[in-house]
Amino acid sequence: MLPAFSTCCDELIERWKNSVGPDGSFEMDVWPEMQNLTRDVISRVAFGSSYQEGRLIFQLQDEQAERIVKALPTTVLPFSWYLPTENNKKMKQIAREVRTLVMSIIAKREKAIQNGETTKDDLLDLLLESNMREKEQKGDSDSIQGMTTDEVIEECKTFYFTGQETTSVLLTWTLIVLSMHPEWQEKARDEVLQHFGGKKPNFDSLSRLKIVTMIIYEVLRLYPPAVMLTRCTYKIIQLGNLTIPPGVLLRLPILFIHHDPEIWGPDATEFKPTRFAEGISTATNNGQLAFFPFGWGPRICIGQNYALLEAKMALSMILQHFKFELSENYQHAPYTIITLHPEYGAPVKFQTL
Ligand code: HEM
Repeated sequence: MLPAFSTCCDELIERWKNSVGPDGSFEMDVWPEMQNLTRDVISRVAFGSSYQEGRLIFQLQDEQAERIVKALPTTVLPFSWYLPTENNKKMKQIAREVRTLVMSIIAKREKAIQNGETTKDDLLDLLLESNMREKEQKGDSDSIQGMTTDEVIEECKTFYFTGQETTSVLLTWTLIVLSMHPEWQEKARDEVLQHFGGKKPNFDSLSRLKIVTMIIYEVLRLYPPAVMLTRCTYKIIQLGNLTIPPGVLLRLPILFIHHDPEIWGPDATEFKPTRFAEGISTATNNGQLAFFPFGWGPRICIGQNYALLEAKMALSMILQHFKFELSENYQHAPYTIITLHPEYGAPVKFQTL
């Protein structure tokens, strides 16, 4: 993954350097920038050589997201997604187009694998190869033989969409918070320069960044990209002193738990990375598990190391090249729409170092 992260971050820094004015500064909304970055990265990691075709999927996804927002007022009605409205019809059409795009990428790749022409260094190759192997091993047995094409398509879509939105939100809030707290920005930059100087970050050193990790955890606590988890009971469940029957929808409000003063202390809403100085388990008042931006248990986020590494790489490279502060146009408005966005964007002023 690391070469893909590194290539995309290089391109970002180059693009930003080209925006610098005669006084060495420039201003931009970092939210779309971070979305572009994480989309580039997942396109390369997931689809490697088919990267350009993968990028097209995001254009369709943007249109889909706009339509979901437009439909939100009616979604409280049961079955509202099934009503034959113009918006719903268009969304189904987009879903079909995404499916066709993913299918064509998969078909090309399957052919390349059969001809022995693949490099096995992206997610799609790994997925298809493992699926083909499983099918061969199972042979004629009655058990399920690998994944169906539809299942492979859904896997690709899951990775593709979950792999960028959350990480771009994390990076955006990190740049906002470090603009609000220049003292932490300085500490993070000192650490990065100490480890890498002006050189490109490498895996070993990225894993050893302590201050940067504390900052990222504290941003994930205050601005968790996924604000809640949802579960449905399928049998009687005993939860503490509650007996819950089957078919109950449970919501775990990550955002509220991450801000609870009983768990985190009276400064729960303040940005204080030092609470993670000794890691996650000692960050709370009573050592209770209350930090779960990536979920917990068997369904814990499969991409958490990927996300943390990508965030550390991007942040390290930005800190190496620029100082930044919030623009006067910034309005602080965390807003929940699937993930936790800055409602009016994130305009930030940059100064080259
Ligand atoms: C800051 C970034 C990220 C955050 C905050 C995040 C958060 C989460 C959370 C809370 C869950 C659990 C959902 C549940 O239990 O209902 C989850 C699951 C998942 N995440 Fe992430 N995620 C992030 C990045 C990524 C990335 C980069 C990828 C892929 C490259 C990814 C792929 C997945 C997948 C496939 C699952 C489902 C795992 C399963 O059900 O077994 N995530 N994520």
